[in-house]
Amino acid sequence: MSTTLNTPNPTTDADLQNYQIVNRQYGSCSLKPEFFDDFYADFTSQSPEIRAFFAKTDMPAQKQALRSGLAFLIMYAAGKQLAVSKLEHLGKTHSRGGYNIRPELYPLWIGALIRTVKKHTPDFDATSEKAWKSVLQKGVDLITSWY
Ligand code: HEM
Repeated sequence: MSTTLNTPNPTTDADLQNYQIVNRQYGSCSLKPEFFDDFYADFTSQSPEIRAFFAKTDMPAQKQALRSGLAFLIMYAAGKQLAVSKLEHLGKTHSRGGYNIRPELYPLWIGALIRTVKKHTPDFDATSEKAWKSVLQKGVDLITSWY
C-alpha cells in the first residue's frame, strides 16, 4: 500500500472544475431514490458474477451506504482529507480479505454509474463525462490500491 495515495493529491484548477460539475450533478441525482435503483439494475446486469456478489445483500441498506460512499469519493477528488479514511475503509472491505472485489471490476462500476448519471441529468455532455471519469478514477485508484 503506497503512502502517496492516502493523501489527496493537490487539486489543480481542472480538478476543481471537474469536482464542481460532478458535485452539482450528483447533488440532483442523489435526491432521486430511483437513481440508486437504476444504478444497481445497470451494474448487476453487467455479469452473473456481479449479480452473485449482491445475491444476499440488503439492497435498501446497500443503496443508503452507496449514497454516502459516493459523496466521500467525490470529496476525495477535491482534496478533502476527511474522505481519505472513509475510502481506506472501503479499500479494506473490498480487498482480497473482504468482499474480494478484483480491480478489473471497477471499470464496469464506473461505466454503470456514468450511464445512470447521464439518464438522470438532462444537461449531461462530453465535459460532464470527462469530469466524472476523472473524479471517480481518483477514488477508485485509492480503493483498489488496498486490494
Ligand atoms: C468506488 C467504487 C465503490 C464504492 C464507492 C463502493 C461502496 C460500497 C459501500 C459504501 C459498501 C457498504 C459496506 C462497506 O462499507 O464496505 C459496499 C459494499 C459492497 N460492495 Fe462496493 N463499492 C464500490 C465498488 C464495488 C465494486 C466494483 C463491486 C463489485 C461487485 C462492489 C461490491 C460490493 C459488495 C459485494 C458489497 C457488500 C454487500 C453486502 O454487504 O452484501 N463494490 N460498497
